[in-house]
Amino acid sequence: MKVKNLKTLHMTNPLGIDVNPYFSWMIESPEQNVMQTAYQIVVKHECGTAVWDTGIIQSDASSFIEYAGDPLVSRSRYEWTVKVWDNKGNAESASAGFETALLVKSDWKAKWAESALPSAERKVGFGNQPPATMFRKGFLLKGKVLNARLYATCHGIYRLTVNGERPDAREFAPENTVYEKYLCYQTYDVTAMLRQGENALGMYVGDGWYCGANTKPPIEDFKQLHAILFQLEVEYADGSTDTILSDEDVKTAYGPVLFSDIYNGEKYDANLEVEGWNKPGFDDTKWAKADIAGYGYQNLVAQLGQPVRPIITLAPTKIYTSPKGEKIVDFGQVIAGRIRMHVQAPKGTEVTLDLFEAPDKEGNYFNNVTLLDFSGKLGDQKDVYISSGDECDFEPMFTFHGFRYARITGVENLETKDFAAVVLSSEKDNAGTFESSNAMLNRLYENTRWSQRSNMLSIPTDCPQREKAGWTGDIEIYAPTALLNEDVTPFLSRWLTNLSCEQGENGAVPMIVPYVGVYPALGKSMDAACGNAEIQDICGIAGWSDAAVLVPYAMYQITGNEAILRQQYESMKRWCEYIIHTAKTQRGKNKNVPEEIDQYLWNTGFHFGEWLVPSRVKTGNSDMQKMIASALQESEYIAPIFGWQTISDMSEIACVLGKPEDEKYYAEIAAKMKDAIHKGVMDKDGKMPVDMMGAYVLPIYFDLVPEQLKQHFADRLVKMIEDNGGCLDTGFLATPYILDALSKINRRDIAYKLLYQDKCPSWLYEVKQGATTIWESWFAFAPDGTPLTMSLNHYAFGCVDDWMFRTITGINKTMPGFKHIEIKPEPDSSLSYAKRTFTSEYGDIVSNWERKNGGFILKVVVPCNTTATVIMPNGEKYEVGSGTYSYACSL
Ligand code: BGC
Repeated sequence: MKVKNLKTLHMTNPLGIDVNPYFSWMIESPEQNVMQTAYQIVVKHECGTAVWDTGIIQSDASSFIEYAGDPLVSRSRYEWTVKVWDNKGNAESASAGFETALLVKSDWKAKWAESALPSAERKVGFGNQPPATMFRKGFLLKGKVLNARLYATCHGIYRLTVNGERPDAREFAPENTVYEKYLCYQTYDVTAMLRQGENALGMYVGDGWYCGANTKPPIEDFKQLHAILFQLEVEYADGSTDTILSDEDVKTAYGPVLFSDIYNGEKYDANLEVEGWNKPGFDDTKWAKADIAGYGYQNLVAQLGQPVRPIITLAPTKIYTSPKGEKIVDFGQVIAGRIRMHVQAPKGTEVTLDLFEAPDKEGNYFNNVTLLDFSGKLGDQKDVYISSGDECDFEPMFTFHGFRYARITGVENLETKDFAAVVLSSEKDNAGTFESSNAMLNRLYENTRWSQRSNMLSIPTDCPQREKAGWTGDIEIYAPTALLNEDVTPFLSRWLTNLSCEQGENGAVPMIVPYVGVYPALGKSMDAACGNAEIQDICGIAGWSDAAVLVPYAMYQITGNEAILRQQYESMKRWCEYIIHTAKTQRGKNKNVPEEIDQYLWNTGFHFGEWLVPSRVKTGNSDMQKMIASALQESEYIAPIFGWQTISDMSEIACVLGKPEDEKYYAEIAAKMKDAIHKGVMDKDGKMPVDMMGAYVLPIYFDLVPEQLKQHFADRLVKMIEDNGGCLDTGFLATPYILDALSKINRRDIAYKLLYQDKCPSWLYEVKQGATTIWESWFAFAPDGTPLTMSLNHYAFGCVDDWMFRTITGINKTMPGFKHIEIKPEPDSSLSYAKRTFTSEYGDIVSNWERKNGGFILKVVVPCNTTATVIMPNGEKYEVGSGTYSYACSL
């Protein structure tokens, strides 16, 4: 038996943490039926003192074991060793480490150094920003360095260099967060980068989210100025120490980045490069001194979760000339990232890259990026490079785009070897694979994975080209799928803390987190555009704000993460109270519903409804009034049902955390809400307030249909799908459940038909149209290739992969974290094989089946420390422990 994959806070040996850690490990064994029987964790401070010894705990728990030892101290390395005993008489141990950052505010001595260079107010649009700022500080180190840590952050986004070198490949530090309350700082081990004598630290700061017109934080007296904070702590070989701080000795200057905007793009003039500016020996006497600003340290938080990095590089698949004569580079895949281009052009040559997701029908450049102000105007995704005459590899620094294609102007004779698309994403461990005999399904799966990569860049976003915003509803729908494909635990944990930061006094959660820039005003302009639709500050939205409860609960169910439930418990309670209070104090539109029922229906305020129900939004964003009108109608069933779902999940969460009073309280309210849905939303014949597919899907899926109406609901749903030509007609909030609802009414055959459907709207229609990601709207491309101005990269409808996981390869969790697994493939007859792997908390689960000579062969892998029930398509059942098994049956 081996103990492996030791993780602290779900990360490998994290450097610079400031929250109470939890520990996880996996065990691996060549034997079958291996269970952990006991564990012991010992945590030692770097000086050798044990700060926590659990003693031998008789338990099979191996994940999310929360530290409960002596208080941790700042800037210390800790080693933890876990010894594990199994039921086969083996005992093994393994060790890992973590390091704390600055745990108390008084650890900070550095001063905020702010640019005093002339700056301008940022406006939306390419070029409406000032240049990026180079900050530098030269310093002397008096001896050989034994150990050095740098803690750094900024207002903007920075690229760090120490003596001219980058310590790592991270991008966009300090991450996209609720800056006024939660500003990440990063910790770097820079020991090997320093030297005795002269050194230099450089931070090149671009606008990023903090200074961006679309994303600036709602801070009182907000100054859109680049500023940095760093603290370098050095330990010399002789035992003495030194601290180098950002302070009044920091110098600033503008350089080659003429302007940068995280949405619109960057302009770079290579003629303005300053040779050696971030290296020792550079004469910065002519540079401007930074101002010292009093921002303090209250909002500083050590970064949790891996940084954004380049994760894949793609070569162009072709370069072509469009009918309009444009030179277009095609990378073959829609991504989030940017282009690296090799340029050799005469001094002063201006090369422009206009990035876009798909060409028009004829193959010309096409812009699908609408601005967020309903003006109907289009936004840029553009980078410009001005050559110095020297050969160079240009890649913008402070922006990213959503694209597959780029129109290049300014240089001729483009060659594929000179271009690369650099895919950017928050780094995460892969957790899943899928393959089957159906190439279209395989591509659908790949499309889901690409949209996940593209929309997990610092925060979970809706799309990487238009809004880049932390839409709560999108991740609410998609979280279960995300968790099956990547280890998103640290990433979502950070975002959820930010969600708590954004919660209003009344518990309301906004529609996006961070709730920044243009969005607070958006509600008002939508209201004006749609004629008083009760849209105000767009907080407290059914299915969107419910992410406060539904995302942590999905995390718990898939990974067994109780720590996240504890972390978010107060926030979840406050959100539930918002729903309960709103339902109780505000009367719905239907005055025939008596008050004793109405008070349990969440049926007031603005909601997005299901959002993007195909039959209602064929023309996409261009018809906002129509979209909002539909949203308001759908809200009549969406809000009461999501209100009920959230409160009833909350009761289960309270049960998990051992809070029986809360459990009872929420269970009672949920029961009343369910009753109120029966009496105040459905009529006695089972008619829903709006006769839409989702209105039948949700009650079926959530077991909200009274016994006597079950047949009616089932019949109505089936009829609606038939009448719709065998296509779905559900939006964001009902699509995750439509295939399950069909399974529930014993019509898995129709579920498979929807999955295989390739007429619009359907998943495989997109694949047939050559999609390489999941689209925002099924109509993003007409069958003749005409594009709509809708995003081609929204993960929301990729949620179907969760159903594929649970049905095609039949991997189901019957206990949180897949501690007990049910493997029950329920394939349809057209597939001849399918294989899925999933790295659970305990190790890899595999379900791999094929049809052969009229039989069905299933191979499964069950990780150590779990048990499984394997059910074959003929109903044969096997109860097994860990190990690799193969079963066969005839069909
Ligand atoms: C976003 C979504 C979001 C929606 C809310 C759109 O503009 O791109 O994905 O959830 O608005 O209605």
